[in-house]
Amino acid sequence: MKNNLSVRIESIGSFIHSDELTACMESAKASLITLRAGKGRGNEFTGWLYLPDQAVNETGKVQACAARLRSQAPVTVVVGIGGSYLGARALTDALNDPFARQEHRLVFAGHTLSEDYHAALLKYLDSTSYNIVVISKSGTTTEPAIAFRILRDHLRNKLGAPAMKNYIVAITDARRGALHDLAASEGYETFVIPDDVGGRYSVLTPVGLLPLALAGHDIDAFASGMRDMALSIREGNDTATNIAVAYAAARNTLYDNGYSTEILISYEPSLVYLAEWWKQLYGESEGKESKGIFPASVTFTTDLHSMGQYIQQGERKLFETVIHIEEPRHMLVVPGAADDADGIGFIAGKKLTEVNHKAEEGTRIAHIEGGVPVITVSLARIDEYNLGQLMYFFELACAISGYVLGVNPFDQPGVESYKKNMFALLGKPGFEAERERLEQQLRARG
Ligand code: PA5
Repeated sequence: MKNNLSVRIESIGSFIHSDELTACMESAKASLITLRAGKGRGNEFTGWLYLPDQAVNETGKVQACAARLRSQAPVTVVVGIGGSYLGARALTDALNDPFARQEHRLVFAGHTLSEDYHAALLKYLDSTSYNIVVISKSGTTTEPAIAFRILRDHLRNKLGAPAMKNYIVAITDARRGALHDLAASEGYETFVIPDDVGGRYSVLTPVGLLPLALAGHDIDAFASGMRDMALSIREGNDTATNIAVAYAAARNTLYDNGYSTEILISYEPSLVYLAEWWKQLYGESEGKESKGIFPASVTFTTDLHSMGQYIQQGERKLFETVIHIEEPRHMLVVPGAADDADGIGFIAGKKLTEVNHKAEEGTRIAHIEGGVPVITVSLARIDEYNLGQLMYFFELACAISGYVLGVNPFDQPGVESYKKNMFALLGKPGFEAERERLEQQLRARG
């Protein structure tokens, strides 16, 4: 089965004992078996494992909806937060030409409570026609609910209530939740997020696919990439060839040796939101029960001029996972200059990717010598197919890794704490005692 992705973990050998890695590989392999058998913690949320088998045949309805929305307005506001936002943002940022005027523009809302952000968004929307795609599995998350309320009012004022419903699409639970009920009563077109797929594992549902199609990208290629990675990892049962097992084992062995922060690194600015997606996936899946690797990210060479100093010489608890991109999508050569006033004539005629790769190789050696273990995940290029491979690989490795760590990688009980306090402080009925307790604390702090 086609697999464009490879994982290199050899360089961590000088930071750990090989027998520890071997033992962790066995644990990761057992975790994969448990995951597939449906016998692990959070088993009711492992439907994403099998999405690639279905999705390749189910993109038609998404394509049709995207074509309808694209034909009726030049802009779509995608409303969502966390797993209902980051996959779409990661994909479209990775694939869009950053400077081109998009044929159909996506803007995002529902991921912030900033008044200024929303005011600026409404000002922009005053001057354009637009659709809204509102995404919330629970249908009750505060941030997207507030944004959707604001946007719905704006759209109603623009179009009038009867026309408005054709410009709104809801992606939510099949049966429950405020958004489900509202969509049913107002008659919005809807897509379902399956019960057994949690937000951060939902990129191969309409949550990721509809925004991707709206932005004009090839969702079938993305689904094929995911499917090929799923099949290739299934075939590679053996720990020596199973890249998800290898990555999960490597990072857990490092964690056991005190390397408690993992930095995801790429040398492509278009992958900044891919790293945000990855951080949410790993942070929310593993950070619980007072355990878990802290996921961080940087973009090089940009951040070699900011975080590079800390990584090279700061506290030694870091390891890196570098996303290496083999080929660029475009070709550009460093020009020659007769006077060589800037002294970089020795680079003239080289492709920028060659320079970028040399920066990557040099940095890798420097960081290893500075005490930072490096894992490398190599991808052929940035396109829909390869991103599909990468995202499925990271999802599967995350689930395995969570089981190796001994946590439920599919829940997020800690996210509730801030919500409870926010609701209490805002005066939600039923939260009176909690409000009094919090206000006392605020008063005591002055
Ligand atoms: O991964 C998750 O489950 C979360 O990040 C959710 O996606 C996020 O909290 C948004 O939830 P919902 O889709 O219910 O609005």
